[in-house]
Amino acid sequence: QLPRKVRIVEMGPRDGLQNEKRLVSTDTKVELVRRLEAAGLKAIETTSFVSPKWVPQMGDNTEVLSRVLAAAAPGVAYPVLTPNLKGFEAALAAGATEVAVFGAASESFSRKNINCSIAESLERFRPVTEAARAAGVRVRGYVSCVAGCPYEGEVAPQAVAEVAATLSEMGCYEISLGDTIGTGNPASIARMLDAVMRRVPAERLAGHYHDTYGMAVANIHASLQMGVAVFDASVGGLGGCPYAAGASGNVATEDVVWLLNGLGIDTGIDLDALVDVAAWISAQLEREPASRVARAVLAK
Ligand code: HMG
Ligand code: MG
Repeated sequence: QLPRKVRIVEMGPRDGLQNEKRLVSTDTKVELVRRLEAAGLKAIETTSFVSPKWVPQMGDNTEVLSRVLAAAAPGVAYPVLTPNLKGFEAALAAGATEVAVFGAASESFSRKNINCSIAESLERFRPVTEAARAAGVRVRGYVSCVAGCPYEGEVAPQAVAEVAATLSEMGCYEISLGDTIGTGNPASIARMLDAVMRRVPAERLAGHYHDTYGMAVANIHASLQMGVAVFDASVGGLGGCPYAAGASGNVATEDVVWLLNGLGIDTGIDLDALVDVAAWISAQLEREPASRVARAVLAK
């Protein structure tokens, strides 16, 4: 039995743009958020409060978030990434009401991405979750490398479950499981979910699947069958991780909406409007939309 409703968390402005070599203007970033709202997205990860030396593309985080929040649409959440207290304080000052901490199930990826071990990262997230609770800010938690690591290869489902459980105990309202390099398939994702669900219930999990090997839609279908009802996706399939060479973007939001429409699952998103957003942002970046659904709809 599949979930009747699915929540999609849009990643385009953050995961989608963070890896762009050429700086995207702040105006374009804000307009992307506005267009996504208009297409019916209710959760839009807007930027990240990370070090601009590490990810220059997100260096305009304060301006992007302040401008987005100054005209926030009713009922829409605008989470932002915060790796540490410094990032959290900057996000709070810009008006954030939802943030996300991001850990990994692989030691090498943790080092490359946030320059510390898994255990150290969890110790850094704790004060963020405490400060967030005091400020009435919701915290989401990510686990990267849930189905494979660019440096270590296979990742044990048990290692994913451990980090997910710790983030959940810290107070993260939802744990987003990142197949950072897209090497997962329905069988390995099911094994991973099985281990995680022994520690964190399906209602508090999200799938964050990159589409490098074209398996993301299949992985979402497998996850739906196990009761997961929240998925992260990026308009036009934009993106890639700066610390995972060769990895492509999140599954395209249009592909997810097409799948869910076919399965009779409600998302509240207007597919045609979403495809127009994919075409618009792809034109801004001077490329074709990566998504099969966007290309097919646009060709009609
Ligand atoms: P570090 O160098 O170890 O940090 O970086 P530090 O605490 O030693 O500080 C060094 C300098 O950075 C200092 O400045 C700090 O003030 C500054 P300096 O004195 O040299 O001028 N600094 C900051 N500046 C702005 N905002 C901050 C901040 N913190 C310190 N928050 C750090 C550690 C975590 C900051 C760094 O490694 C970093 O920014 N990493 C971010 C990497 C990133 O953004 N990766 C992509 C997002 S994760 C992802 O895509 C995966 C996901 O999609 C799920 C999936 O697909 O698996 C979520
Ligand atoms: Mg990602």
